[in-house]
Amino acid sequence: MKILVIGSGGREHALCWALKKSPLISKLYCAPGNGGIEDAADCVPIKAEDIPAIVDFCRQEAIDFVVVGPEGPLVMGLVDALDDAGIKSFGPRAAAAQLEGSKGFMKDLCRTYNIPTAAYQRFDNAEAAKEYVESQNLPIVIKADGLAAGKGVIIATTQAEAKETIDEIFGGLFGVAGAEIVIEEFMEGEEASFFALTDGENILPLATAQDHKAVGDGDTGLNTGGMGAYSPAPVMTDDMIALTMNRIIEPTVAAMKEQGTPYTGVLYAGLMITKDGPKLIEYNVRFGDPECQVLCARMKSDLLPALMATSDKSLASISLEWETDTALLVVMAAKGYPGAYEKNTEIKDLDKAAAIDDVLVFHAGTKRQDGKMLAVGGRVLGITGMGKTVKQAQKKAYSGISAISWPGGFCRSDIGWRAVDRNVAG
Ligand code: AMP
Ligand code: GLY
Repeated sequence: MKILVIGSGGREHALCWALKKSPLISKLYCAPGNGGIEDAADCVPIKAEDIPAIVDFCRQEAIDFVVVGPEGPLVMGLVDALDDAGIKSFGPRAAAAQLEGSKGFMKDLCRTYNIPTAAYQRFDNAEAAKEYVESQNLPIVIKADGLAAGKGVIIATTQAEAKETIDEIFGGLFGVAGAEIVIEEFMEGEEASFFALTDGENILPLATAQDHKAVGDGDTGLNTGGMGAYSPAPVMTDDMIALTMNRIIEPTVAAMKEQGTPYTGVLYAGLMITKDGPKLIEYNVRFGDPECQVLCARMKSDLLPALMATSDKSLASISLEWETDTALLVVMAAKGYPGAYEKNTEIKDLDKAAAIDDVLVFHAGTKRQDGKMLAVGGRVLGITGMGKTVKQAQKKAYSGISAISWPGGFCRSDIGWRAVDRNVAG
């Protein structure tokens, strides 16, 4: 079969790396890909959001199945366009992708179907929003309704900050994504990422994972797309998984079907593990990045049939096997990230890291030019270590980092600390 992966991040590198192992694949393409993906797939220079060009390419190359990585094209209707052209794909149609595309949509669904999430209100003007804030406890969470590349959430600790944020968002801080806002209760607890494949009816939970969103050690500083991740996540005990499935994932999949917009693909629930059990922070309609990289590192089964089963409505026949070892990933980002950062700095000795046993190197923001590997994004590399314990996996990942020579980059030095603390045997 001929397969096309859409996207250019670490997630897509990991998906290509895993898919390349499938005996069912005769040709693997990635659009647009990156400097590392070139080793696993033929990269084609088509942007992930150029829907007509993607459909044309699929027709031209007789692509059998398209795996969509990022949320942008899903919310824009890539899967709908592929369906119309008779091309099968992995991911939800636009109407179902609203679970990520509109926080208000997702919150209203939770309210209607009693899915545990933070209490909230939606607003389309600053005055009513500010009045509401005055009646609420602090801290309070203010979110732009639409897609804002993970940056549209502000946790305000004073009334003044909350009101200023409301004015800024309605003033255009996040563009059209901020035409509406959601204000919600601050939830306390530990965060975890939960992933399940679904064909609209059947649900297959994947291995558990957790990421570190903050840029600095000790989970301090600005929020990012994720500075590291590990799988399994010790906070997701069997009981917690069962509660998450019963209270959150199953009712959501049933609700989407009932509303006439069945959800297919991977459903990624951002959870807060509170004293009252798991609560939904948000839904994403794609794999998490970097979580996808540690999931792919642990997947023993062929990934392709599982992804295809979500579109063929045959997920009930799929089971997946995972390595029992822990996978732990450390992100290397360009100095300055998540603020302004320098581009086109050279990265060396990636092969030395990749040559270490139980170390995997996935690229996120790289470009190959004149025989050199250049950093062209904020998050640039994901270095995964495998180990019997979290501690061993952590040691492996950092041994990979030490082998790489990139003066323009930095990483956190404590990825996995909560899990290391829990996993004392490590
Ligand atoms: P989101 O983009 O909705 O996942 O939010 C980004 C981050 O903001 C989350 O990963 C949490 O760390 C934090 N956050 C969002 N909503 C809440 C909430 N209601 N209570 C506490 N923290 C939150
Ligand atoms: N790691 C968080 C995300 O993919 O949104």
